[in-house]
Amino acid sequence: MSIDLSVNIGALKLKNPVLLASGTVGYGNEIAQFTDLSKLGGIVTKSLSLKPRKGNPPQRIVETPSGMLNAIGLANVGVEVFIKEKIPFLKELNTTLICNIAASTIEEYVECVNILKGEETIKAFEINVSCPNVKEGGLEFGNDINAVGRITEKVRAATNKPIIIKLSPNVSRISDFAKTVKQNGGDAVSAINTLVGTSFDINTRRPKIKNVTGGLSGPAIKPIALAKVLEIKRNVDIPIIGIGGIMNWKDAVEFMIVGASAIQLGTVNFINPNAGVEILQGLEEYCRKNSIEKLSSLTGSYQI
Ligand SMILES: Cc1cc2nc3c(=O)[nH]c(=O)nc-3n(C[C@H](O)[C@H](O)[C@H](O)COP(=O)(O)O)c2cc1C
Repeated sequence: MSIDLSVNIGALKLKNPVLLASGTVGYGNEIAQFTDLSKLGGIVTKSLSLKPRKGNPPQRIVETPSGMLNAIGLANVGVEVFIKEKIPFLKELNTTLICNIAASTIEEYVECVNILKGEETIKAFEINVSCPNVKEGGLEFGNDINAVGRITEKVRAATNKPIIIKLSPNVSRISDFAKTVKQNGGDAVSAINTLVGTSFDINTRRPKIKNVTGGLSGPAIKPIALAKVLEIKRNVDIPIIGIGGIMNWKDAVEFMIVGASAIQLGTVNFINPNAGVEILQGLEEYCRKNSIEKLSSLTGSYQI
């Protein structure tokens, strides 16, 4: 039996639902020698900003129970260098490229999109309104429903390419934010970005992360992420990309059942850079065993 693994995220067509999450594989080049990127549904770039950013000073990462905290602070090469130095490599990969963008003003988001939108290789934009580790932008936007609405509206007006808004879980009702994205012309939402957390050294009494707080990711956040995806699915008719603690194909199936049309892998890439390919194989096997012809039929198939 041949299984149809393809999925649609609004107007964006993917050969399969397995994507690599922003910030965990650089611009694809950091992981290319350890896995076959052409097998995956797509790659999401590290958040790109208008100008290059050095990010926060170290220590920027620490391991936590069933997860990790990071406060990278959006270190990236900036949109111009990205086009010159990173696109040529990405162009040769047979996988869908989604550009993630971060900014500290609405105008800056639009400017980034305007600079990047002419690049044929970029198939969609994921707008990061939810980074917990920067002083300006980030959660200031992610927590403000009006700002999320305005960003979606302005970015929508700037390009015909699909717009995915990456939502913060650090809010009380994430589905209200998803509703705003839909009302302002967004094609899809990604849920979730990291949760604010911290960790202290009991001997020095100092934070283990220089920024004091960081974003928690990994298996520790999976139940929260699943609940957020389900909340959106039950309240808003918009495609959802599920993210948060996915380590294996069973986690991916769980996210699809609660409503995700596609999934992204983040922290797992640091443990097993071939996880995406293995998860894809597991998904195909699961479909075969359960006589599921179209993987996308799993999306939102929960029974409550
Ligand atoms: C080291 C690190 C860097 C990250 N950088 C970004 C980023 O630049 N932009 C973004 O939207 N999300 C970023 N994220 C969040 C991930 O894309 C993802 O939403 C989050 O880690 C939850 O997924 P996971 O539990 O599978 O890691 C980063 C995560 C980690 C661990």
